[in-house]
Amino acid sequence: MGEYPVLAIVHSCCYMGMETHFVRVEVDVSPGLPCFNIVGLPNPAVRESTERVRSAIKNSGFDFPLRRITVNLAPADIRKEGALFDLPIAIGILIATKQLTSEKLEHVVTVGELSLDGSICPVPGILLMAANIAKSNSEKVFVVPKDNLEEASLISGIKVFGGHHLQEVIGYLQGKGDLQHQTGNLEKLRKKLFDNDEVDVGLDFSDIKGQKQAKRALEIAAAGGHNILLVGPPGTGKTMLAKRLPSILPPLTWDECLEVSKIYSLAGLLPKNNPIIFSRPFRSPHHTASPGSIIGGGKNPRPGEISLATHGVLFLDELPEFHRDVLEALRQPLEEKIVTITRTSGSFSYPANFILVGAMNPCP
Ligand SMILES: Nc1ncnc2c1ncn2[C@@H]1O[C@H](COP(=O)(O)OP(=O)(O)O)[C@@H](O)[C@H]1O
Ligand SMILES: [Mg+2]
Repeated sequence: MGEYPVLAIVHSCCYMGMETHFVRVEVDVSPGLPCFNIVGLPNPAVRESTERVRSAIKNSGFDFPLRRITVNLAPADIRKEGALFDLPIAIGILIATKQLTSEKLEHVVTVGELSLDGSICPVPGILLMAANIAKSNSEKVFVVPKDNLEEASLISGIKVFGGHHLQEVIGYLQGKGDLQHQTGNLEKLRKKLFDNDEVDVGLDFSDIKGQKQAKRALEIAAAGGHNILLVGPPGTGKTMLAKRLPSILPPLTWDECLEVSKIYSLAGLLPKNNPIIFSRPFRSPHHTASPGSIIGGGKNPRPGEISLATHGVLFLDELPEFHRDVLEALRQPLEEKIVTITRTSGSFSYPANFILVGAMNPCP
């Protein structure tokens, strides 16, 4: 039995609300009864990573040490969510057991969820983390799951690489292989945004016959970013009118696209092959929705419908049917255009800058 005096340090990243923080993943492997502990305020999903990492290392052809493994996620005062530390933890264990030596590691920031066979699954929030790394103006390389590569490459100023298997990433760190790299995505997408032919026109305002007054009201709301309430008997086209409001809003600017895409990235809703939102969001939650789903929150805080509707339209059809809690909770975000959710684990802010469209019948 050899000694393992190496303390491995792997750089990673996490998010809290719309903020991101660098995380240092420290792995210590020392003699003792075999055990695998993660400290540093991990939530249950992070703690489960022990099982995934163990299997992934074994199934990728490396040895999993039967020793006392301690993983520290520093700084310890930030709550760590999700499965995104699987990859840095696995890399750390391989370094601590001298199965991997790498000079590149100092400049590499990495996140990724491992599956039991060692393949790397996509994680939410990549766009935010990439923006954070680019801002920190250090010479960092961002290694992400391959399915997140397009998303990460939307941010200019950092090098991103995508790996689809633990073995592939280890090969890259050892300098034996290369990972897929992407450039030029940004310019391509930017061009697409300003190329009017490609903008998808779904439901169009011109579908509406007559209704001069309602149309005028919607036009004023669109021009000034005002909230609007449509009142009328069933079948008069309230739902129809509201759904066509995004078609008369101006196109998103590039910065707005990025902001909306960041929120969708956090919620894990970005499409994989085209990871940017070009069109104004239109969200129409059902009236049975809970306050948490509308405002945001939950155990692992996620942006709610009001944040997903940022720079677009939040449509509450049958407004009086919504729970009172939901309607009351809308008051503050409507005024402040931002929502702050406070939980024992910390407080999280999300943008909530939307046009509210309500529809109701005159008598409930
Ligand atoms: N002004 C209109 N122009 C064209 N179609 C209309 C108009 N008003 C109503 N309709 C038709 O009636 C259907 C029902 O309207 P809807 O929007 O569901 O009404 P409401 O929400 O007020 O109950 C629409 O899907 C549409 O086909
Ligand atoms: Mg309706």
